[in-house]
Amino acid sequence: MADTQIQVGLFQVNGPVAQPGLSEQANALRAKLRRYDHEYYVLDDPSVPDSEYDRVFRELKALEEANPELITADSPTQRVGGAPMSELTPVRHRIPMLSIETETDITPQGAHNFDARVRKKLGLLPEDAPIEYAAELKFDGLALSLRYEHGLLVQAATRGDGEVGEDVTHNIRTIRQIPLQLHGTAPDVLEVRGEVYMSRPDFERYNARQREQGKPTLVNPRNGAAGSIRQLDPRLAAQRPLSFFAYGLGETNGWNVPPTHAQVLDALHAFGFPVCVERTVGLGPEALASFHQAIAAKRDQLPYDIDGVVYKVNRLGLQRELGFRSREPNWAVAHKFPAQEEMTLLEHIDVQVGRTGAITPVARLKPVFVGGVTVTNATLHNQDEIDRKDVRIGDTVIVRRAGDVIPEVVSVIKERRPPGSQAYVLLEAIGHLCPICGSHAVRLPEEVAVRCTGGLFCAAQRKQAMLHFASRRAMDIEGLGEKLVDQLVDGQLVTTLADIYHLDLATLAGLERMAEKSAQNLLDALQKSKQATLHRFIYALGIRNVGEATAKDLARYFGKLEALQAADAEALQQVPDVGPVVARSIAEFFAEEHNREVIRKLIDAGVQWEEGEGQPASSGKLEGKTFVLTGTLPTMSREEAKERIEAAGGKVSGSVSKKTSYVVAGSEAGSKLNKAQELGLSILDEAGLLGLLAE
Ligand code: IVH
Repeated sequence: MADTQIQVGLFQVNGPVAQPGLSEQANALRAKLRRYDHEYYVLDDPSVPDSEYDRVFRELKALEEANPELITADSPTQRVGGAPMSELTPVRHRIPMLSIETETDITPQGAHNFDARVRKKLGLLPEDAPIEYAAELKFDGLALSLRYEHGLLVQAATRGDGEVGEDVTHNIRTIRQIPLQLHGTAPDVLEVRGEVYMSRPDFERYNARQREQGKPTLVNPRNGAAGSIRQLDPRLAAQRPLSFFAYGLGETNGWNVPPTHAQVLDALHAFGFPVCVERTVGLGPEALASFHQAIAAKRDQLPYDIDGVVYKVNRLGLQRELGFRSREPNWAVAHKFPAQEEMTLLEHIDVQVGRTGAITPVARLKPVFVGGVTVTNATLHNQDEIDRKDVRIGDTVIVRRAGDVIPEVVSVIKERRPPGSQAYVLLEAIGHLCPICGSHAVRLPEEVAVRCTGGLFCAAQRKQAMLHFASRRAMDIEGLGEKLVDQLVDGQLVTTLADIYHLDLATLAGLERMAEKSAQNLLDALQKSKQATLHRFIYALGIRNVGEATAKDLARYFGKLEALQAADAEALQQVPDVGPVVARSIAEFFAEEHNREVIRKLIDAGVQWEEGEGQPASSGKLEGKTFVLTGTLPTMSREEAKERIEAAGGKVSGSVSKKTSYVVAGSEAGSKLNKAQELGLSILDEAGLLGLLAE
């Protein structure tokens, strides 16, 4: 580093050194953090855990706070939180930031067109040797020019019109992938050009967090990156997760520039910049076309958006010879891919009812070619998403289709909205009724989905309902599996749940892959299942939010099905562990006449159970205690332990929480035991459990 003073932004660099020793200490800490940052953000290969990073960071921060004269502009502590700007200052680029000509022929011919232009310009004949090209990605972010003087980042500027951009140094400092100080021996002047972008996972994570906090979300990663960089307040920019790829040079001074583009990129990598690994060097247009094809194939797996690839003549000497016309160099071209986002008209909003009863809105679109196929439908997810994007019928929208993912409506172009349009309210649009079965549709508090309440009755949910009804812990109808349910429902042999009890041998034996023997077995299983218990029957109904444990609580509390059916939400909440959400699910289920009818038909078909008296305050000795069983007990099976605990009024739950009273651990108990120990819960072995039961 030079000995002179350099004024960088708000900070004094290489000022008079205050206390020897302390200054070395600070430098050593900085060097360490720089190395950790580089390993983490550029090499993607951290050598220390985050806690170690934080420890060193805090140590440096404390040292600098006690000795402010030690703070340097390139200190890792200075990345976050400078003062906001009142406006962005214009910066004249010493070397203009060019744009690239776009080759819109997305077939391999695009590469041949470019090569032909280059060869012509160089006056080459067909028999002359092929040209060496570098091929890389065309990133979809924001172009930046980073200026380093004597190894220190002194200025970052946007491209602007190519001649004059804006000074965004305050925000760029917050991007951890961009070195504040170059690695190795630094040139006097080095301007690095590249693209700032937001990765897809970072974009999704950021938006999810914003949504949780009820804050505005970003439309797409590109806008996210561009908007962050042009922020006036660096503290806001620092909260946006941004990344960077270097792809070229601006002004350089005091540096022996390598002879090829590929070597320039290698050198930039060595200076500490992220350079994308998806690049190659090859001879002639065939190499370019095959790169284009290879990248197209993996485009959807890349964690960031690209809109094509870029070809550059590899030798800088040849680049100089080729020169440029107006704003574009003759030695580079961008070869596009099909767009993944397009604009179209949203003609109508329909709804679909899923297997679990969720009613989702679907946009019917004016057909549009996007992501390589013609798209006519796109998901709108749910009411919250519709509200957030303010999507209305008649809007011009942006549709995105990437890979095999279902196309989605990303945003609305508000300027094109026809007058008189109205906000779309799903429940109102369907008149509060399921479009498939006419049962009531509701939106439960704390849920984003609108749901059909006709669980047992609704054709869309029939298969799911039937499989659940037949499952082992419900009515335990062995042999009634997915394939069979598909055949029965699709062949319209059963429409409501009760119909399964009216199937006969001839019908069943006539089904695919159904020998007479298995048909008879199924009939026997059906017959046997009619002898149920109340809690199994309640569980089998598949009421939303009613699992096995709740079904047992309900059966024990009410004793009779009629009592349960008659209970309102308030009465239901008297049952231990039933809160308002569960109570509402239950009340809504029984309020739906369609569901009551199915229950009547099941009873008519012969399904029965023993009814109890109902024991609102059952008083077993383990009343109010919750147990979790884990591992293998020496003499009792897990089922047996569960039955005995429940017989004594206790509950058995599948997961450990603060509310767990006891964890009963056998041999080879795993993570549940660890968690119990962490939470400081009481842990019993089998003998301990038997002791409790005997007390
Ligand atoms: S080189 C050769 N390389 O494309 C001219 N640009 O139209 C200088 N871009 O806004 C640009 N990926 O931000 C170059 N690998 C890449 C690129 C790339 C994306 C952007 C650049 C600029 C635009 C030029």
